[in-house]
Parts: sequence; C-alpha cells; structure tokens
Amino acid sequence: MTAIRKLHQQPTRRPGELGVHSVDHFNLTVPDIAKAAKFYGDFGLELKEEGGALGLYTVGHPHRWGVVTEGKRKQISYVSFGAFEDDLPRFRDRIESLHVERLDPPAGFASNGLWLRDPDGRLVEIRVAEKSSPNEKLSFGDPSSPAGIRGSWGRSSAPTTRPRRLSHMLFFTPDVPRAIKFYRDVLGLRLSDTAGDAIAFMHAIHGSDHHCIAFAKSEAPGLHHTSWDVGSINAIGLGAMHMADCGFAQGWGFGRHVLGSNYFHYIRDPWGSYAEYSADIDYIASTQDWDTKDHPPEDSFYVWGPECPKEFIMNFEAMQG
Ligand SMILES: [Fe+2]
Repeated sequence: MTAIRKLHQQPTRRPGELGVHSVDHFNLTVPDIAKAAKFYGDFGLELKEEGGALGLYTVGHPHRWGVVTEGKRKQISYVSFGAFEDDLPRFRDRIESLHVERLDPPAGFASNGLWLRDPDGRLVEIRVAEKSSPNEKLSFGDPSSPAGIRGSWGRSSAPTTRPRRLSHMLFFTPDVPRAIKFYRDVLGLRLSDTAGDAIAFMHAIHGSDHHCIAFAKSEAPGLHHTSWDVGSINAIGLGAMHMADCGFAQGWGFGRHVLGSNYFHYIRDPWGSYAEYSADIDYIASTQDWDTKDHPPEDSFYVWGPECPKEFIMNFEAMQG
C-alpha cells in the first residue's frame, strides 16, 4: 500500500519546461473482447465493464490505464498523454506553430484534449490529467526471510501477481528517428537511449521511468507490448508461471534488459503482441538530465536471459488482413 499511496503525493514537475507528464491511457481495439478479458484478467489486472468496453485497472489504484474496445482488427486506436492543466494552452500554441494538424476526437470519445496524428498515423491525444507516472522510484524486492522462518509457499498458496501500474508501451514504426522527432518536438518527451536506428526509448520530463514510450523499427506501425510494473523478481516469476498455467505459456523471459535495466518476462497475447511484467526499471527524476547514449545493438538488448525467440521481434499486427 505504501507504494500506491506514494503515487498520490504532490506530482513532481520540471519548472518552466513544456512536456507531457504521463502516458495517461491507451485504447486497444481487438476482434474478441472476451479473449482480452481472459488475458488481462489472468495477467493480474482489474477489469471493469464500461458501456460495452473493458477498462483496465491495477488493483488498489484508481487510474484507468487502458480501454479495450471491440473492432475488426487488433490495434492501438489511440494513445492519450497526460499534461498539467496550465500547459494545455502552451501545447495548443506549439502545435499551431509546428503546423501539426489538429483533429476532432474519435466518435464516441468525449475529451478535453488536443488530438493529432503522429507521423505513422497513430492517433495521439494530449489531455489534462492527473500525473499517473511515478514521482519517485518505487520500492523493489522482497525481504529475505529471517533464520528459522520458511521463505516460500506451496504452489497452491503462492500469492497472485498484481501489477502496480502501467510502465510503458513499445510501438513498431518504419522510421524511428522520425518518431523521436515528433514525440520530442510536439509532446516534449526526451530521448533516454537508442541502439542505432533500430530502437529508441523516451521519457517524460516531469519525473518518469527511463521510458514511458519506446519505438522499434519494423516494416509497418504496430503495438509490440504494454509493460506493467511489479514489485519484485518473485512477482515476475509467479505471474509468468500463473499465465503459463492459464494457457499463456509463450513469450520471452525471465531476463534483464540493458536499456532501462528492468527485469522482464513478456507474455504473448492472443494477437501476437505482448504484456510485460517489468520490475526495477531505471527512473529519471524531474531534477535530472539523463546521460543519453547510443549503444551497439549487440551489447544493449539484454544482459542475461534465455535466447530471444524469433517471433518476439515479428510485427504480427502488420500481417493481419
Ligand atoms: Fe518493455
């Protein structure tokens, strides 16, 4: 509960500079909403039926991180970024001065935000919202059991993994440098690290994980994964085992990334994209400037873990009819 309470403290803010503070939520369209309910429910999220859509929440946290709606194909239909209220007019001016076209909200979505398309055609909103990104690095790790006390559980009595919050999203794009430019110039995100033009990680300037959004090069746009923060390595292992028991055994993990430093296990969803259990990702405070670097790809994918399956980097979304 301590970690959850901390999310509600005074939001951190970098004075004077314009940038979104959070990935507020995403909208995911899938052909079969019941399949999404099974997958994300088994993953440990809290689901709420909301007028024919499925709200994705984390247990004990009021924020809605995602909405799943039914549609012809699986895709992210929009990503909504949160901004401070007094920054919204400044975003409006910036968008105008950059000659980025403003759009109407999609049908059925009441919104106070500014709607745009990124260079891949992805629908993006900048809206006034409470800062849902963390204001400090959250707790990590389980205490070691003292001498004379059993540390583990029986399989049947092990705790259920409940992600604490959305950490980040990774998108496929045909042009990584073009995506970096848009999200830097328009939304005010900053580059954390890159590996050539193959992958880029970006953070929000008001206190954020090492990446709240990332881009990987592919032949077409698409969603690679959503990532959900958990508090320990044990929570990753328990979650991945539970997902395998529920019929979601495919994925990649357990391992540790270089860029972001997080421990990971990716679970493949019914559409060939992934939900990631992530723990202990690097944090960039609003008072810090990250030492942005370009890394050799062969030295920066993961520090350790099982061999990455070939299909992990395939863009199944681009292969849909
Ligand atoms: Fe990730």
